[in-house]
Amino acid sequence: MSQTHLTAEQKERLVRDGFVVIRGAIPQALAGRAKSLINDSLPKDERRLLVPGELATHPDVIGLFNDTCLPELMRNTMGPFPPVISCQVAVTPGNDRLGGSPFAHVDGSWGGVIPTSPDEIDEAAGRPRDAARWFGENDDKRGTNDGQLWQDPDRRISLGSYTALVGVCLNDQTEPGNGQFAVLKGLHRAVERAFRRQRDAGSVIGPEGLDWPRIRIGESGRPFLNGLPDAVRAAANAPDRETFEHEAWPWPELTPVLLDQGDAVIALHSCPHTPTPNHGPNPRMNIYFRIRRLREDNPHEGTRRLGHGVSDHLDRGYYGQFLEYPDSYDPWQTSIDRLCDHWSEWDGLRPEVERMRAAG
Ligand SMILES: [Fe+2]
Repeated sequence: MSQTHLTAEQKERLVRDGFVVIRGAIPQALAGRAKSLINDSLPKDERRLLVPGELATHPDVIGLFNDTCLPELMRNTMGPFPPVISCQVAVTPGNDRLGGSPFAHVDGSWGGVIPTSPDEIDEAAGRPRDAARWFGENDDKRGTNDGQLWQDPDRRISLGSYTALVGVCLNDQTEPGNGQFAVLKGLHRAVERAFRRQRDAGSVIGPEGLDWPRIRIGESGRPFLNGLPDAVRAAANAPDRETFEHEAWPWPELTPVLLDQGDAVIALHSCPHTPTPNHGPNPRMNIYFRIRRLREDNPHEGTRRLGHGVSDHLDRGYYGQFLEYPDSYDPWQTSIDRLCDHWSEWDGLRPEVERMRAAG
């Protein structure tokens, strides 16, 4: 099925839940071709399935977005966007029990190495005590996960962002426990509220801002990178919240997105999400496209060095380089405004958003 507009029900779902599934968005011939390509390039005997980097720009792989109904669907739902030139090929091996408990996050945080001992963490600040050792002399050390500590030189915003995560599924994930992309359903609203509180308090937006320590110490005593504001974590564990109960799904606060080969999911950037352990026998294979609505005043829109499609920090170059901007355009304030009003980037959902807001 080639779908170029969301149905009324799908629009309601996206607005309410923060994500929506598009069944059969990818023709099976395209899905099969990309799947064979990825399968053929995976190392055969290793536990971790590291995907060769060149696959992310292979025409058959980015064609899973570009050569399908998805660009038109996204233009009709969101609005125009720069060309997609790359993606994230995300493969989780089968029978993967090493992953531990999944932690939901919002994309765009720094993902570098942190100390393993709680004694090395200043808990109040949410930073390593010897920050220079881990973050560099000027907080400029690049992480191992393409993350940056700060999006702007003035350190007003620590979180990269985009508009929509579009995930394309290349294997059967219709039964829970097979490494599904999972979400904190409906909590995009709590994320937006947390950004607004930070903004209204004059705080940094993102980790190291109000009520969002960058590093926390877990119950086991081990420090972890904290992917969510405190208020969102509290909302996720609220006793009256709807949960997903299934014998093969030990994480009821998370909702698994159950997809089959050729299905796609569209999720808001602010919809907290996580990969989950793959207890099934087959590699879990998802391709993610990060789409940001065109920012007409941004002189860098569409330049290759942004890595549109894969990057979650589009106000800096893909490799973290700071870009020159004219005085008339403040990319970081623009991103803050969008984070604090995420539906402002969805031209095609105005009536649904108005209805939701009127209903409270
Ligand atoms: Fe993510």
